[in-house]
Parts: sequence; C-alpha cells; structure tokens
Amino acid sequence: METKKLGKTNIGVPVIGMGTWKLGGSYTPDYNDDQEAIESLKGGIELGLTLIDTAEMYGGGHSEELVGKAIKGMREKVFIVSKVLPKHLSYDGVLRAAERSLTHLGTNYIDLYKVHTPNPNIPVKETMRAMEHLVDESSIRFIGVSNFSVNSLREAQESLSKYQIVSNQVEYNLLNRSIEKDLLPFAEKERITIMAYSPFATGHILSYSGRGRETLEQLAEKYNKTFAQICLNWLISKKPVIAIPKAISLEHLEENVGAAGWEMEREDYEIIDKVFC
Ligand SMILES: NC(=O)c1ccc[n+]([C@@H]2O[C@H](COP(=O)([O-])OP(=O)(O)OC[C@H]3O[C@@H](n4cnc5c(N)ncnc54)[C@H](OP(=O)(O)O)[C@@H]3O)[C@@H](O)[C@H]2O)c1
Repeated sequence: METKKLGKTNIGVPVIGMGTWKLGGSYTPDYNDDQEAIESLKGGIELGLTLIDTAEMYGGGHSEELVGKAIKGMREKVFIVSKVLPKHLSYDGVLRAAERSLTHLGTNYIDLYKVHTPNPNIPVKETMRAMEHLVDESSIRFIGVSNFSVNSLREAQESLSKYQIVSNQVEYNLLNRSIEKDLLPFAEKERITIMAYSPFATGHILSYSGRGRETLEQLAEKYNKTFAQICLNWLISKKPVIAIPKAISLEHLEENVGAAGWEMEREDYEIIDKVFC
C-alpha cells in the first residue's frame, strides 16, 4: 500500500485506511455482527489497510474492542487511531479515557490519539498537557485532533510544549469540499496530515446522480477503475490527504485498496475539481 509521511514525522502511513463508525453499534454496544466485523477488519489488514480509525464513542467502546480482537497477534503490523470524546477533555478525563481505550483495544499503546471534537468549555491547553503526558509515558505515539478549524488547530499547536499535532481528521469528499478554502492549504503549509472522513459522503456519493457523475464514470472507464476508486484517488491526490473509508464487505475493501498506487493525468484531477465545485 502506498504511504504518506504522517505530519512532520518520518513515519509512513497508508493513504487508505479503514473507518469503524457503526462497527459494534453507534453510540452503545451492539454485539450482533461481531464476527462479521472482526473478519472484515482482518480481511482489510491482510489487503494492506493497516491504518484503523476508531474512537471511544463508536459503539460505546465496542468498536475498539472489535479492533482489539481483529489485531490480536499482529499489533506491530497496524497503525491504530482512536479518539477521546469532547466531554472527557479535562486533564484527568483524557488520562482515564486513554486507559479505557487501551483496555478495549487490548494493547499498551495507541499510535495516534485524537481529540474527537473541540470543547470550548475546557481549555485546550489542559487537554494537550494530558496528551503530552500520554506520549511521555508511551501510552500514545502521536497527538492529533479531529473537526478542528484552522484557528482551533493553531491554538492546539501553540498549547503543546514538546510535541506537535500530526493530523486533523475532518469530513472531506467530492460533495463536501469546504476544507479547501483554508484548512487544506494550512495543513499543507504546516505539514499536518488531513485524514478525510466520510470519503464517500457516508455512501451518498456512490448513488449520486447530479452534476459530475458522468465525468467520473468517463474517467473510471478511461483508467479502467471503478467509480469508487476515482472518488478516493481524487482525495489522496491532494498532498496532505489520506482517506479512511468504512467498508464491511470484502468486495468494497478490495476496491478501496485498488484506489491507491496509481495516478490520473493532472488535467483529469483538474476536471474533477471544476465539475464538483
Ligand atoms: N472524526 C469524526 O467526527 C468522524 C465522523 C464520521 C466518520 N469518521 C470516520 O470516518 C470513517 C468513514 O466515514 P463514514 O463511515 O461516515 O462513511 P464513508 O466511508 O464515506 O461511507 C461508508 C459507506 O460506503 C460504503 N462503501 C465503502 N466502500 C465502498 C465501495 N468501494 N463501493 C461501494 N460502497 C462502499 C460502505 O458500505 P459497506 O460498509 O456495506 O461495505 C458504507 O455504507 C468512519 O467509519 C469513521 O471511522 C470520523
């Protein structure tokens, strides 16, 4: 799998990873499809989708438990991203949440730990102090954020005394290009990895029939790729961007892997940019 450097580090992360929202439930645990979810995660890892995005919120912690089961015996092979809820952003809250996530994941470190969403009621400085403590005690390797604007990202960066924010996870897809105005250029300049969530607009892009559909279909034919692959390939063509589609079916996982490792001609990316703006 093609990789990109994570933030300013020398660590290469896969340009396509795996999302886990709704694996194991939405906000509370749902144990009905555990086996299918574990098989799907293992299948994805086998295919090279070794970056897994989860959160303490997903399935009330059960998503992390499923990830923990899927990675058993191959911890070194995967790059685990998890997130702390905004209500847990006090110093002690972050430490307790990280401890719970480590237990759920059955590991002694999380590769990248993110603030899920900013909380204006808790000073980001306090949150980041806890994040730095977690790095110091090797419970997490890198610090990140999610759903942060340029201003909140700047503030978070300035709150850190020893480490850096390596990534911001935000919604980015052909139907929502709002980050292109200021966040994307800022991330590129500051070398902060943008982790594009909902890269298929939670699936809507795949059944979308508006302006641009035909263009993507023509490009899919030209490059002998699928519609979904063109959507993901366009995202990862943006320098700071990697994408974390969620897919349960093996067919979808295989298709998503096939979105990386090749490029379209520059004019074709520009055509997509224009037709969807
Ligand atoms: N930080 C945040 O606030 C935040 C918010 C939202 C999401 N996220 C993260 O981002 C991840 C991805 O976003 P998402 O789950 O909202 O939506 P998404 O990845 O845009 O779309 C998921 C949907 O696309 C389908 N799909 C995947 N690959 C496909 C393919 N090749 N062809 C056709 N359909 C395909 C999936 O079907 P199947 O499952 O049936 O295969 C699923 O229905 C989440 O799982 C989560 O980890 C983070």
